[in-house]
Amino acid sequence: MSNAVRVRVPAKVNLALRVGETDEHGYHRLGTVFQALSLTDEVTVEAGRPGVYRLTFRGEGSAFLPTDDTNLATRAAKLMASRFEVEGAGCTMTIRKRIPVAGGMAGGSADAAAVLVACNELWRLGASLDELHEIGAELGADVPFLLHGGTAIGTGRGDEILPVMTRGTYHWVLALSHGGLSTPAVFREFDRVSEPRPTDIPVELLAALAEGDVAAVGAAMVNDLADAAVRLQPTLEATLQLGLDAGAAGAIVSGSGPTCAFLADSPERAELVAEALSVFSGVRAVRMAHGPVEGAKVVG
Ligand code: C5P
Repeated sequence: MSNAVRVRVPAKVNLALRVGETDEHGYHRLGTVFQALSLTDEVTVEAGRPGVYRLTFRGEGSAFLPTDDTNLATRAAKLMASRFEVEGAGCTMTIRKRIPVAGGMAGGSADAAAVLVACNELWRLGASLDELHEIGAELGADVPFLLHGGTAIGTGRGDEILPVMTRGTYHWVLALSHGGLSTPAVFREFDRVSEPRPTDIPVELLAALAEGDVAAVGAAMVNDLADAAVRLQPTLEATLQLGLDAGAAGAIVSGSGPTCAFLADSPERAELVAEALSVFSGVRAVRMAHGPVEGAKVVG
């Protein structure tokens, strides 16, 4: 057995997020378009003593993260061990975070996806992507996409993935907010004030992605959770407008927020948008990223 496996995993942004009816478990039927971004976490998993699962975070927001057995990363490792009946399983996980915590970019799900890939390698399990996808879906709705990466439609809970044709590279500016938002709280706020929406993906968005038409992609982006996120964090409205005024081709709340994502038609334009956002008091930090990038992958 190799001693340590390092996996890089992307953040996601939703170019479209349509929110429909709830199922019997309270989960919403979604129609979404994900894109994986070059803002990544790095997860190192090493063999540990049997039955012992240790988790340490470094970097972005690490002080706020639980490191006990409730963490999705630990649950991912334990699920792999039990599903494949790994004898004497145990591991030490070190997660270097750059994806914002509670930011609407699936940081927790990304780390879980990375742990699935790392344990598969560490314990030489030979699980296929389809098997990891199925195990990932048990952990969280975003986990399967982060295994695949690229640009993809998500249906069901967001866990049924269909790759989407895109042309070119998309330049993103991400405005991180001072506080996080809880995903369940944003969905609850949506339920409180909105009716379920049709979950169709806008055809203009898919056509624009296929053509690599950044202006048309920017214009077609839609997020049904945006109003709920803005109600919970009203400064987001000014953040979105600021980025548009600085020349972004599109502005959107990322997933359940509060990170705002801005699409730019060139790296130079992205720099200008980033500069404008970085001086706004409602923005904690600004990150640049591009997409699409690949999903969780062993890098060492
Ligand atoms: O699947 P995950 O644990 O990431 O979802 C977090 C929360 O987001 C769920 O507990 C639920 O409140 C909400 N959610 C939802 N419908 C979905 C996905 C997530 O209501 N399709």
